[in-house]
Amino acid sequence: MEHSRDMNDLTERPVRSFVRREGRMTAAQKRALEKLWPVYGIDVDRGLAGKLPAPRNGRVTLEIGFGDGEALLALAKQSPQGRFIGIDPHRPGAGRLLLQLEREEVENVRLIIGDAAELVPSIEPKSLTQILVLFPDPWPKKRHHKRRLLTPEFLRILGEKLQPQGGLHIATDWHEYAEEILNALDETPNLCNEAGRLAFCARPDWRPVTKYEQRGLRLGHQVFDIAGKRI
Ligand SMILES: C[S@@+](CC[C@H](N)C(=O)[O-])C[C@H]1O[C@@H](n2cnc3c(N)ncnc32)[C@H](O)[C@@H]1O
Repeated sequence: MEHSRDMNDLTERPVRSFVRREGRMTAAQKRALEKLWPVYGIDVDRGLAGKLPAPRNGRVTLEIGFGDGEALLALAKQSPQGRFIGIDPHRPGAGRLLLQLEREEVENVRLIIGDAAELVPSIEPKSLTQILVLFPDPWPKKRHHKRRLLTPEFLRILGEKLQPQGGLHIATDWHEYAEEILNALDETPNLCNEAGRLAFCARPDWRPVTKYEQRGLRLGHQVFDIAGKRI
């Protein structure tokens, strides 16, 4: 357990791509977590091996960092035959999404509350058809770049979890991070860039607009889409 570690252990902790700024949960979100977690939640004590639900219609999409869940909800409604899994450590966002899943009677979504960097390595290889990472935290300060999630090593792990021809779709409104991800994709042996070497792809019609995308657009940011494919 993390809080029982002593100071020496703390220095050996992996770098986290998020900080525990949980924010306030509304009473409704708290109730949703209590009541709906048994229906929609996947508990992770020792990783995700054997924990993901079987594909439906041959498809399983994993969204890393679902935030308030707009994309996951929209995609799950668009494809009721598909299976959708979200992972994010932020509990208020999970609470909000759970309320919507219940309200809209969407039953093909499952949620994991946790750190993708820690948990994704334990997913069985070749078990996902699509992975989405929409507007990951950009960590704009140079001294924080090491917290960025989409490193060459993590992209390689994501590639390993995709079925052959499976897709990794990333979007960000942070140009410098987008370039860094393109370069990392170029170095990833099990993924190719669908748009061509070191190129961004056009925004796909199927990608829903998320809260952070709207925020970026309001600020006048350009949005960059990146499409990797499992070789
Ligand atoms: C900038 S927000 C974007 C949220 C949403 N995708 C959107 O576009 O509105 C980044 C999200 O990634 C989540 N996140 C950060 N590090 C993560 C990690 N290691 N594993 C899973 N989610 C992570 C954060 O909690 C946050 O919800």
